[in-house]
Amino acid sequence: MAIFIKSPLKNMSESCCNTNTSNKAPNQFDHKDAIQERYGSAAQEKESCLCTPVGFNPVLLEAIPQEVIERDYGCGDPTKYVQKNDIVLDLGSGSGKNAFICAQIVGKKGKVIGVDQNPDMLSLSRSASKEVTKNIGFNNTEFLEGSIEKLDELDKDLNPLIADKSVDIILNNIKRVLNDNGRIAISDIVSNKKVPLRLQNDHDLWTGCISGAWYEPEFISDFKELGFKNLKFAERSAEPWKVIEDIEFRTVTLVGNI
Ligand SMILES: C[S@@+](CC[C@H](N)C(=O)[O-])C[C@H]1O[C@@H](n2cnc3c(N)ncnc32)[C@H](O)[C@@H]1O
Repeated sequence: MAIFIKSPLKNMSESCCNTNTSNKAPNQFDHKDAIQERYGSAAQEKESCLCTPVGFNPVLLEAIPQEVIERDYGCGDPTKYVQKNDIVLDLGSGSGKNAFICAQIVGKKGKVIGVDQNPDMLSLSRSASKEVTKNIGFNNTEFLEGSIEKLDELDKDLNPLIADKSVDIILNNIKRVLNDNGRIAISDIVSNKKVPLRLQNDHDLWTGCISGAWYEPEFISDFKELGFKNLKFAERSAEPWKVIEDIEFRTVTLVGNI
């Protein structure tokens, strides 16, 4: 049985950069509820601890409202691997920043579908969509409310798939929704050692996208087992983003194709 422990969000957001876990009990909580709660709050108020510094193409940011850019909770730039006319599935689309960047890259004939389970994030991305449409002159983006675990409810007609941090639970679904030319670009956090259960059950570390990190050697091999090809880290930060109890957490962007 899980014990649900919910931290008051204000305190959580103030303390999220504190990676000293020594005084914390190994709590158990509902991980999905906790993610919903933290991103719901982060949609309303910018939370700087949830992102790693990423330099996006400034020209593509011009068409995007500031409130969307400010709520950048990504950990890499998977949009670099998107091409003109692609149909893009953006998993965990958040405020919509990556989706709006992709919208401009794929152009009028392409399409971008953002998927997120958080109503506050969806309301942010959907309302920003009108302004982006006005700025770029066309609308090729839609945002669907849904869980990444239930991608089978979506169209199968998708080329590249970009994702940011929230994909570790959905490997098989990724393969199912991609078409024959499907490509992936996934920016995520990896760890150089397996993260102990005690840290995975730390509410702040889990919802801060730290202790749910993929164990680096398994990131590529898990996708390989599913039949993806040409897998490689297109990017891998030399310096760790965080070091907690001797475990290094760094950002990578995995690319590959079906
Ligand atoms: C780390 S943020 C990334 C947001 C965005 N891609 C960016 O770069 O700013 C993760 C997003 O994924 C969503 N998310 C997490 N787990 C999910 C799931 N299982 N199904 C759907 N959305 C999920 C969260 O609500 C949140 O908006």
